[in-house]
Amino acid sequence: MLEVNILAIHLNSTSNILMPKPIIIKKEIKKFDKKIKVDGDKSLSIRFALLASQAIGKSKANNLLKSEDVVSTINCLKKLGVKIIWDKKKNFCEIYGNGLNSFAYKDNLILDGKNSGTCVRLLTSLLINSSKKIKIVGDKSLSKRDMKRIIDPLSEFGATFYPKYRNTLPLYVKGTDNLTPINYIESKGSSQCKSSVMLAALLSPGQTKIKCKHSRNHTELLFKYLKIPIKIKKGRNFDIIKIKGKKNFNSFNYNIPSDISSSAFFIVLTLLSKNSKIVLEKVGVNDSRIGVVTILNKMGAKIKLKNKKKYKGEKIADIHVRSSNSLKSINCSKKLNSSAIDEFLIIFLAAARAKGVSYFKNLEELNKKESKRLDWGSKILSMIGVKNQIINNHSIKIWGQPNLKLNKNIEIKNYLKDHRVMAMCSIAALTLGGKWKIHDPDSIKTSFPSFFKIIKFLGGRYEVS
Ligand code: S3P
Repeated sequence: MLEVNILAIHLNSTSNILMPKPIIIKKEIKKFDKKIKVDGDKSLSIRFALLASQAIGKSKANNLLKSEDVVSTINCLKKLGVKIIWDKKKNFCEIYGNGLNSFAYKDNLILDGKNSGTCVRLLTSLLINSSKKIKIVGDKSLSKRDMKRIIDPLSEFGATFYPKYRNTLPLYVKGTDNLTPINYIESKGSSQCKSSVMLAALLSPGQTKIKCKHSRNHTELLFKYLKIPIKIKKGRNFDIIKIKGKKNFNSFNYNIPSDISSSAFFIVLTLLSKNSKIVLEKVGVNDSRIGVVTILNKMGAKIKLKNKKKYKGEKIADIHVRSSNSLKSINCSKKLNSSAIDEFLIIFLAAARAKGVSYFKNLEELNKKESKRLDWGSKILSMIGVKNQIINNHSIKIWGQPNLKLNKNIEIKNYLKDHRVMAMCSIAALTLGGKWKIHDPDSIKTSFPSFFKIIKFLGGRYEVS
């Protein structure tokens, strides 16, 4: 096994290769037995940056994810007057915060979130305590995504959004000196919505109360670690969160663990490859994120979490995976949806190779991501000859074929450059055969710049046409 630090150097030095042309994959990956470390967690990287911008003093993150979503967040913060030193070679990022509501910028500033929903939906909350007008824009994909989900609660705090009744980017936001705390019910299971309200609560005097369906809880854990006044009462379906605002907090250091969502592609690659093994080191395995492991293990995989540690409220572990030739179908509980929300495309691929008919339900949020992922998942399964049926626009049945192999040409384009569609198709190509042409492979840089380097390291072959 290769030493992990050597791998890290190898990946860092080659992760800037441009891939504007389609990628061709026409060979299945051969057996492998490797240890890898995937890139840093996207949710934690963005939250570190946003919270550090509101802290007092110099905060430092190691292993901040070097992806376009995080770059967009850092660039927006720089435009808002925050001093940031990001040394990508030494792999650290320092952010100099001046306390709550300390951004310094001119009226009519334009902020570009590019492809990042998390950047825009969370950062907007930090802009509502100033009466300066800001324009928020994003790329083609982000400009199609719903912003009403944050406009409604942030308007209740006192912010004004223009044009009135517009629910997508570009948007103008104008805040106020007189924010009022709110009572808010979050019922989609969206951590972005919950976190947006939590950040707005930080800037508002008095107590904000949030009743929220379970979703990833990184913001709560960071608030607790930073000693921001927060009380959480956990319930069976909903949590109650109370936050007292206007209390400054000190700067902090943070080591970002590897991203479970990026890891999921290599977990499934290993499961679907013959006689292979992989260890994914130091992955964030927060209970609110490991739905993919739970689902795949229920399908018969034997994924193990070893070397478990606690870090500032988060859980970290090494993930051990072996090939599986006996995956079985699942009737997936909707309770697992939010903890696996970014992993469903790759889970669908596992279901396509499982024995029996799998059923995933109430996935309405999946069609509201960077692209319509439920529709794309279904379309790709049909392209590879896997029978599937979308039910009521939110659920899907997949008839698995354990011995599925392909011997045809497949071209994937027009998918709004969704990084997770691209990655799912690459894993399908490496495990099913056929000749795949996948457009816009650069889209992976949104969340996982080392993706192709790791594929190469594991012995996978691809060409850029
Ligand atoms: C994220 C939450 C999820 C996820 C997104 C990142 C976050 O969105 O899909 O990639 O960092 O809070 P929702 O919370 O809207 O489901």
